[in-house]
Amino acid sequence: MNNAPIGIFDSGFGGLTVARAIHKRLPRESLVFFGDTARCPYGPRELDEVRGFVREICSWLVTQNVKMIVIACNTATAAGLALAQMEFNVPVVGVVEPGARGAVRMTRNRRVGVIATRATVNSGIYSNTIRNLDAGVTVFSTATPRFVEIVEDGIRKSNSPIERLTAEASDVYLRPAFQEIARDYLDPIKKADVDTLVLGCTHYPVLAPLIQQAVGENVSLISSSEETAKEVVETLTYRDHLADGSLPAHNVFFTTGKDLDDFRQIGGHIFGEPIDELEYVDV
Ligand code: DGL
Repeated sequence: MNNAPIGIFDSGFGGLTVARAIHKRLPRESLVFFGDTARCPYGPRELDEVRGFVREICSWLVTQNVKMIVIACNTATAAGLALAQMEFNVPVVGVVEPGARGAVRMTRNRRVGVIATRATVNSGIYSNTIRNLDAGVTVFSTATPRFVEIVEDGIRKSNSPIERLTAEASDVYLRPAFQEIARDYLDPIKKADVDTLVLGCTHYPVLAPLIQQAVGENVSLISSSEETAKEVVETLTYRDHLADGSLPAHNVFFTTGKDLDDFRQIGGHIFGEPIDELEYVDV
């Protein structure tokens, strides 16, 4: 038993899909969420630079006495998971391996698509991780950077609860302009005859209805957020580090962005609950 909080971070809001999935599975756990909104997006940056951010944010989370760290960003996982696991004394979990494992388990024709930021695709981390799990799987990766903008744009304009945003018939995202971008990005993946598609960016689960429509019903979507939440449950259970429920769970959010109201509004929609305790951190 360990009642210390779980530290989770992302370049901005996307990691809140992971925080949400963890909170749903482990409602007794306290969370410390760090969104590096001031330096978002990470996707177009060099991996070396992002690795520096990973080191800095993990050091900060350790000062908050977290019992484990979840790198809730695919780009940051590609850049700095190995470094963080070597340098810090708490378990560090990334989002890539859980998503890759979910895809390998799901695929029947062993043709898997991956959509992610440019930095994640260029790092080759998904292809390598999937092939390490099953060398017979063929991976088709494509960068879909505008999906991050679309997620945030939709939330800013709609002010709807997350359930409505991610509903199958989401009128927020199933709009002609977004559908055209999705078709342009996803047609090559569809033509590659994949039966499984990894949403390799933590923003993308919010766009599941738009992505599903573009690739067709027969393609299974793997959310790295849900798969990572399962991994967090397993890691804490295995170490006997789950909270015992004797203290009420307490979620605290930090952002490097100066617009706290914006973070509260967008973040609350993605997390699925109001963000009450929010503080600015200068990096
Ligand atoms: N959430 C980030 C990821 O999973 C994408 C957003 C960004 O480019 O910073 O890669």
